[in-house]
Amino acid sequence: MEKSSQTGTRGQWGSKIGFILAAAGSAVGLGNIWKFPYLAGKNGGGAFVVVYILIVLLMGFTVMLAEITLGRHTQLNAFGAYRTLRRNWGWVGGLGVLAGFLILSFYSVVGGWVVSYIIKSVTGVLSQSNPELFGDMFGTLISNTVTPLLYHAIFMGMTLVIVFRGISGGIEKANKIMMPTLFIMIIILSIRSVTLQGASKGLQFLFTPDFSQFTARSFLDAMGQVFFSLSLGMGCMITYGSYLRKDTNLPQSALSIVLIDTSIALLAGIAILPAVFAFGFEPGQGPGLMFVTLPAVFSKMPLGSIFAFIFFLLVLFAALTSAISLLEVVVAYFVDQWKWSRAAATITMAVVIYLAGVPASLSMGVWSDITLLPGLGFFDTYDFIASNVLLPLGGMLLCIFVGWVWGTKKALYEITSGGRHAFGLAPIWVFLVKFISPIAILIIFIRSVAVIFQ
Ligand code: TRP
Repeated sequence: MEKSSQTGTRGQWGSKIGFILAAAGSAVGLGNIWKFPYLAGKNGGGAFVVVYILIVLLMGFTVMLAEITLGRHTQLNAFGAYRTLRRNWGWVGGLGVLAGFLILSFYSVVGGWVVSYIIKSVTGVLSQSNPELFGDMFGTLISNTVTPLLYHAIFMGMTLVIVFRGISGGIEKANKIMMPTLFIMIIILSIRSVTLQGASKGLQFLFTPDFSQFTARSFLDAMGQVFFSLSLGMGCMITYGSYLRKDTNLPQSALSIVLIDTSIALLAGIAILPAVFAFGFEPGQGPGLMFVTLPAVFSKMPLGSIFAFIFFLLVLFAALTSAISLLEVVVAYFVDQWKWSRAAATITMAVVIYLAGVPASLSMGVWSDITLLPGLGFFDTYDFIASNVLLPLGGMLLCIFVGWVWGTKKALYEITSGGRHAFGLAPIWVFLVKFISPIAILIIFIRSVAVIFQ
């Protein structure tokens, strides 16, 4: 278990690179690998990529730095961080803990599907099938009652074991192994993909800016994707920042995390779209692309089952490093605020979140008729409440808190470690955090809520 450090039993990152890899591990997840390529395709390819990168640099970096700063300053979980600075703001952090709970419950169900596909790729089921059967294979898996719950348990179990072992001995170590491996695997897949005959169509699709396909709606898609992909808006980066030493250079760290996440999203697009085009498939939508189209693509490729295995292992690593950050947000809350031991908090919350995920899994099959919000079953309701309500609300309140309540002067003192590190962009950051980010997030939020209740 964790050695106690200057912050007592909370734990601390062992190295600066350890923190950056863990935070990048949180950010790089299913959002980068299936959602980004699909959104880019839908919204004018290169046009989306350019706008996405601009929003990352302006708002993604701004909010990332604000969250990490709040965490390092207070050395507390999301709830505790707000509460120690302003007693009546604790609930904002509490909403973040709730969002982490909800996201992990359905994220782990999807993580379970990925585990099942790794096994399918090893046993050869993926290479033998007729490509047309992949849709049925996926449908049969997720609508089954018991099997997906077993895989959901396996995925949650792996998440539990890592978080149980603490900050430097568990989360940091796991990320130090999985993130570099993930990077190597995605490079291998990108090279394979772009060297296929007919790959250039996919690259054109991804990189040719077609602004006629880029609408106001695309802009909002890009903004929402930036927040989800960077793990912002629920105190994940507050929690990870709270285990940082006081001498870390925060602007530099925030920039590295943001750049790693964006590079992996682009690499995922490069690994996936050319292959999809080369074999004459359409870039489908959502889970379909990852679990139906890609296995069909791999089955047509020489040595396809090896590439399928590499791909699903990569997705598993990406999903696991994100899942541990979600569980850590919840665990840190119980450790700091309720003085639970890490072991008790991790086991209890992993079990409770697992159980919360059961209806999400069943809503793909036997419970598919039950709706909680208009037209949305358990799975979609969890996703909607967390991603479209709690995250934007949390991000907006975070900017208001750092920009206006706690104040940018105190924040800048923390950011520069009391003047030790230069931060030339300080005036721009202050402007972005006080005005641009909260207003932009408010717009995403209103749109999301309007869509469902119209
Ligand atoms: N960023 C992850 C992805 O791209 C998901 C994720 C992990 C997340 N932690 C989060 C999203 C916190 C929002 C908030 O898949």
